Amino acid sequence: MNITIIGTGYVGLVTGACLADLGNHVFCLDVDQAKIDLLNGGGVPIYEPGLKEIIERNVDAGRLTFSTDIQSSVAHASVQFIAVGTPPDEDGSADLQYVLAAARNIGRHMTDDKVVVDKSTVPVGTADKVSAAINQELAARAATPITFSVVSNPEFLKEGAAVEDFTRPDRNHERTRVMDVKSAEFTKYAANDMRDAPSRVIVQALLRAGARVHAHDPVAAEEARRVLALDLADAPALLQNLQFATKPMQAVQGADALIIATEWKAYRSPNWTALKAAMKAPIIFDGRNLYEPQEMKDNGVQYVAIGRGNHG
Ligand SMILES: NC(=O)c1ccc[n+]([C@@H]2O[C@H](COP(=O)([O-])OP(=O)(O)OC[C@H]3O[C@@H](n4cnc5c(N)ncnc54)[C@H](O)[C@@H]3O)[C@@H](O)[C@H]2O)c1
Repeated sequence: MNITIIGTGYVGLVTGACLADLGNHVFCLDVDQAKIDLLNGGGVPIYEPGLKEIIERNVDAGRLTFSTDIQSSVAHASVQFIAVGTPPDEDGSADLQYVLAAARNIGRHMTDDKVVVDKSTVPVGTADKVSAAINQELAARAATPITFSVVSNPEFLKEGAAVEDFTRPDRNHERTRVMDVKSAEFTKYAANDMRDAPSRVIVQALLRAGARVHAHDPVAAEEARRVLALDLADAPALLQNLQFATKPMQAVQGADALIIATEWKAYRSPNWTALKAAMKAPIIFDGRNLYEPQEMKDNGVQYVAIGRGNHG
């Protein structure tokens, strides 16, 4: 099978080399001429155990090509992987300019049907933006009808074990899951939420101290359940004291205190009357400074926020 990888960085190079090793003909594109020259000269810009050997044998076999030629990269394959960088923007959100530039290039040059696979780490809804960018380019050149699909295939490799992660994915993930595109985008987002989430430390400490915890998260509950089971592998019985609620108000029912550890919009304007009625005592520890102390005072809620003292 012919495959194009757009962005020959960490993810793109490992994915491209490993897909070539499975017998595919892989065209790795990058806009960085120096990187492509290095690869074509036999160099490898990153160190990953086993990667150099895989690249060498697949280049020798004629299954792996490195180039800056955008038109040829689009023509090469009906499957186009986008693996460009998505650095944090000024406000911390992912900068999609490289993803959308890659999408526009596909739209500008495609002459047959394509499956565009987004491997870059992107927010939910990006597949729609990628589709729009491709459609815009097709419309601009009044192309005869060409169809394409956009797929989200988020990457979970770990640097230092990337080849191993690619070749033995079942070691790291329960199984391959097929889902709709927005769910796939959510999966990566949730995994990133949970990797360094303060809630992970807080929930674990509370359970070890003997508390019963009811947690709610609109996106990351399943991932939270998974990582907390790992965190408490030495004391699995404590997981009996952890429950996940399907609605925020369900989580606070009968609670002695509420801890806010993430700032979903859905938590910004609760029904204070219902919240106070549901809790044993209306005490909120707010790790995200979601609320105004004066508003809490007016609502009769004892409110402890970061750097804003104790109110109420
Ligand atoms: N590195 C990791 O461990 C890792 C793990 C999981 C997910 N990811 C995600 O995968 C994506 C890629 O990460 P990375 O570490 O490989 O990035 P990287 O910076 O190593 O590589 C990105 C490459 O894309 C190239 N590029 C940019 N715009 C391009 C364009 N329009 N056409 C062709 N090439 C273009 C850049 O020159 C660069 O070589 C990011 O979204 C990242 O968050 C990375």
